[in-house]
Amino acid sequence: MQKIIIKNIKELIQVEDNPQPKKRGKEMAELRTIKDAWVAIEDGIIVGYGEMFDFPEILDWNALEVIDVEGQMVMPAFCDSHTHLVFAASREEEFVDRINGLTYEEIAKKGGGILNSARKLQMTSEEHLFQDAMKRLEEIRSTGTGAVEIKSGYGLTVEAELKMLRVIKRLKEASDLTIKATFLGAHAIPAEYKENRSVYIDLILNEMLPVIEKEGLADYIDVFCESNYYTVEETEKIMQAGIAAGLIPKIHVNQFTSIGGLQAGIRNNALSVDHLEVMTDQDIEDLGQSDVMPTVLPSCSFFLSIPYAPARKLIDKALPLCLATDFNPGSTPSGNMPFVLSLACINMKLTPEEAINASTINGAYAMGLSDELGSITLGKKANLIITKPIPSYAYIPYAFGSNVIDQVVLNGKIF
Ligand code: NIG
Ligand code: FE
Repeated sequence: MQKIIIKNIKELIQVEDNPQPKKRGKEMAELRTIKDAWVAIEDGIIVGYGEMFDFPEILDWNALEVIDVEGQMVMPAFCDSHTHLVFAASREEEFVDRINGLTYEEIAKKGGGILNSARKLQMTSEEHLFQDAMKRLEEIRSTGTGAVEIKSGYGLTVEAELKMLRVIKRLKEASDLTIKATFLGAHAIPAEYKENRSVYIDLILNEMLPVIEKEGLADYIDVFCESNYYTVEETEKIMQAGIAAGLIPKIHVNQFTSIGGLQAGIRNNALSVDHLEVMTDQDIEDLGQSDVMPTVLPSCSFFLSIPYAPARKLIDKALPLCLATDFNPGSTPSGNMPFVLSLACINMKLTPEEAINASTINGAYAMGLSDELGSITLGKKANLIITKPIPSYAYIPYAFGSNVIDQVVLNGKIF
C-alpha cells in the first residue's frame, strides 16, 4: 500500500465532510478550509485530514512518504469539463486575421475555423495526434488540472471522428489525469455537405454512433447549436440519437445567438449547457427551473473579444455555475485554469470562493465525477494541487498570469 501524508499545510482548501454533488447560488460563496492542516493519502485516495495539533500517530513511518509544505496551500485539482485539446495544428493565421478586423464568423465563412482544423486533422496520424495531446495534458497538469473532458469534432468524417475518439481513449489509458470523452461529430457542417446537410447528419446517426457505442468510445454527446452551424431541430435529433447510444448530452449553446438550443438541452436532460455568452432573461429563467449545469468559458470571451457570459447574474438567481477553459486552437488556445479563475473574478465579478467552487466541485459535476473528485473528502481521489507559498487563496485568481502551482498529486504520484 502506498501512503503519503502532506503536513504543515498553511490552508487546506475546499474541505467537505458531506459534499453535495454541486453548489448553486449562495452556496457558491461557501468555501470551507482548515488552517495549519494535514492530509493523508492511501493508494491515491484521501483517507484522512485534520489540524496539525491533531497530527496522527503513525507507526509505520517507513512505508510512508511525508511531504512538508510549510507556507503552502493544498486544494483539489481543477476539473476542466470542456476542452477540444486533441487537434492537429494551431491557427495563429486566424488570430492575425482577427487583429486585422475579420470576425470569428467571417473567418469561418471563408473556410477557416473548425473546417480548417478538420482538414489538418484528417491528414494527421493517430499516433501524432496522441503524442501532441499527451504534451498538452502535461501542460495543463502543470497548471493544476487533474481531470479533463475532451471532445472530438475536428474530424468531420466517419474515419477522422473515430480516429479522434480512439486517441482520447488512448489518452484515458496513458495519462494520470481523469479523462471523459465527448463525441462532437456535429461541430460544423463539412463543406461537401453544405447543400445536403441531412446526408452528413445521417452519417453521424448511422455510421459514427453505432461504432462509438460498440467500442465504448464516448461518454457524452455534444452539438454546436448555433446560427450557421446546427439548428435546434438538428441538435435535438442528434442528442436523442446519442442518448439512444448510451451517451449523455453536454452541448454548445448561446455562444453568438440565443436560438433555443439551451431549451433543447433542458428538454433532453443535458448534464451541462456550455458557452452562454448570449442569454435572454427567459433563458436564465428556464435554466433556473432545470437541473442542468451552466458552464461558462471566460478565456474564449477574452480571446475572441466577445461578451462574457452573465455568470454573476446566474449565481445571483440561485443557479449553479461551472468554469472551464474550452482549450482549442480556434477560440481558446489555452488550457490554463488559474487564468480562467482570474478572468471570472475580474470580468464576471465572481469572488475567489465562487471561482474555486465553479472550477472544482461544479467542474467535477459537469463531468459526472462529483462523487470522486472536486473536494477534500474522505474516500475521494487525492487529485490535489500544492501551491507555492502564497499569502491567501484569493492570491490564485489575483496574481493573474503567474504560476502559483508548485506540485500536483494525481493517482498517488507527485508531479
Ligand atoms: O467551443 N464553438 C465551437 N467550438 C469551439 C471552437 C472551435 C474552433 O474554432 O476550432 C468553441 O469555441
Ligand atoms: Fe467548445
